[in-house]
Amino acid sequence: MNKTIGLICGSLRKESYNRIIAEALPELDDSIEFRWIELKDLPLFNEDLEVGGDPETITTFKISIQEVDGIIIVSPEYNSGIPGVLKNALDWASRPPKSSVLHRKPVGVIGATPGGLGTAFAQMQIRQTLEAVQAHVLPFQKILISQVLEKIDSDHKMLTDEKTKRYLQRYLQQFIHWIDHLPILD
Ligand SMILES: Cc1cc2nc3c(=O)[nH]c(=O)nc-3n(C[C@H](O)[C@H](O)[C@H](O)COP(=O)(O)O)c2cc1C
Repeated sequence: MNKTIGLICGSLRKESYNRIIAEALPELDDSIEFRWIELKDLPLFNEDLEVGGDPETITTFKISIQEVDGIIIVSPEYNSGIPGVLKNALDWASRPPKSSVLHRKPVGVIGATPGGLGTAFAQMQIRQTLEAVQAHVLPFQKILISQVLEKIDSDHKMLTDEKTKRYLQRYLQQFIHWIDHLPILD
């Protein structure tokens, strides 16, 4: 059966390079249904907001995670770490701790930067957070996209680098394989 994958972008910027990378994914594998899971309307996490039940945007956000077979996060790195909007979203999704929608959810992590280190530090932190909520993070493959401006068109609209496209295509195949062969932990 075809898989459904939720796409989360860790940048809210309109012309985000990471969003351009995420937008390229559906064209690389038409056997997968992709759905965007947006972060821009999520409130800042505050335990007080949970007391009377989740705000509506959070309920919708959690349901959209529940409804997909896996999530791919495409995120920038800020100050050698995870962008606040993404950490905020993952903290919301981690609650309640015993029945988080991220628990055992297959997750892939990709990142792009105009710089040279491909968001390696951010990806380590994203993985650390996902491991804390017991998500099934794809373990054996990393996509670190450095010098992203050389890999998109001059209008900053689309991914053009064929080598990066091939990496991403292979990554999608591995991610689907990962979803189909998750470790059994019980
Ligand atoms: C607050 C801030 C901190 C940043 N820190 C890093 C960093 O640690 N490593 C890095 O590669 N790029 C860093 N950058 C540059 C981003 O990679 C760049 O702004 C990129 O375009 C952000 O991703 P986006 O295009 O998807 O919005 C930083 C940018 C901002 C705004």
